[in-house]
Amino acid sequence: MKILFLDQSGKPGGAELCLVDIAKPYGQNALVGLFANGDFRKLLEENQIPVEVLTNQAIKVSKQSGLFQALGSLGQITPLINQVFQRAQQYDLIYANTQKALVVGAIASFLARRPLVYHLHDILSTEHFSNTNLRVAVNLINRCAALVIANSQASKTAFLQAGGKPDLVQVVYNGFAAKDYEADELKVRELRKNLGLDDKFVVGHFSRLSPWKGQHILIEAVSQCPSNVVVILVGDALFGEHEYVKDLHQKVTALGLENRVKFLGFRGDIPQLMAVCDVVAHTSTAPEPFGRVIVEAMLCGKPVVAAEAGGAMELVEDGINGFLVTPGKSQELATVINNCWQESAKTAKIANYARISASERFDGKIINQQIQELLKSIILNK
Ligand code: UDP
Ligand code: GLC
Repeated sequence: MKILFLDQSGKPGGAELCLVDIAKPYGQNALVGLFANGDFRKLLEENQIPVEVLTNQAIKVSKQSGLFQALGSLGQITPLINQVFQRAQQYDLIYANTQKALVVGAIASFLARRPLVYHLHDILSTEHFSNTNLRVAVNLINRCAALVIANSQASKTAFLQAGGKPDLVQVVYNGFAAKDYEADELKVRELRKNLGLDDKFVVGHFSRLSPWKGQHILIEAVSQCPSNVVVILVGDALFGEHEYVKDLHQKVTALGLENRVKFLGFRGDIPQLMAVCDVVAHTSTAPEPFGRVIVEAMLCGKPVVAAEAGGAMELVEDGINGFLVTPGKSQELATVINNCWQESAKTAKIANYARISASERFDGKIINQQIQELLKSIILNK
């Protein structure tokens, strides 16, 4: 089976990291076509996944774009469609991993007579997208896709509510290799020391810096915790959210938390950094489609507290394998952080159970097999 994967991003967000794990087993039978150059290309190359950057022009449509902007970009994407169309001749199917990839992939799949699979990593609702974007996406999917792989039940439900065809969609969670999340105790101790975190109760947040990821909620929460509680914010503004980053720094200064909140930027050593934490917090203020960081924290054996909405509710059972709090409520978050500190034995049990159950539930090998079976059936029924 030969697959042409398409992704609009040059940067390694969660959808892109998921794609690395899906494309890897196909080796030379895969090609990832990107619509932008960047660190994601390097990551694919490091993983020996064939990759090509198909354009050097950014597509000027955002998640909130209206109809005119969307139409205006049509001329811009014609050469890109042509590039994809030409490559598609050598592949059995086109696998679109992002929304712009869906638009380009849908037209190219029609021209090249190749089936289109769409991996839906988003909650298609007006909380995340403009009405125009939603309509275009759902119409294209309904007309052109042979299969939609939704990253959670929440993403599937939103797709159906937006008018998506029920028989197209299958839910497949992101898969992970549990062994990648085992940390070397000595190195962890060293890292903790180098970061100046010895004797602190460390709450980690691992996400791109973006208003809906809610880092500001964690900053507010830590200001309501004892002074021994500190925060590491791991991640960068991947999609131009520089105003938000400025706001976060201002908030830290205004609350006098300069010594208790560290911005570590984008990092490639997530398992080690999670290992230095006592708690991992997920604070999205809009429903999270899936939430890789939640599963990763579980695999690292760390207690996780997540915002109760979207896919996070499928991953976390409050008090069983983690904790859930109302999105946007910093006081609730502060209470859970304090409880984790006070009741460390009970919390450790919860985290240990989460580690064992997550390694079974999100086993990357089994999840890759599921996807492979789905793709095979699409090619056979072509
Ligand atoms: N991540 C990373 N480096 C960072 C911050 C985050 O590699 O500095 C990874 C994180 O481990 C996770 C992904 O980025 O695998 C984010 O995925 P998630 O599904 O949590 O959110 P998304 O950004 O895709 O909405
Ligand atoms: C998207 C979503 C995130 C999800 C990831 C992988 O980036 O925002 O919630 O975990 O895709 O499916």
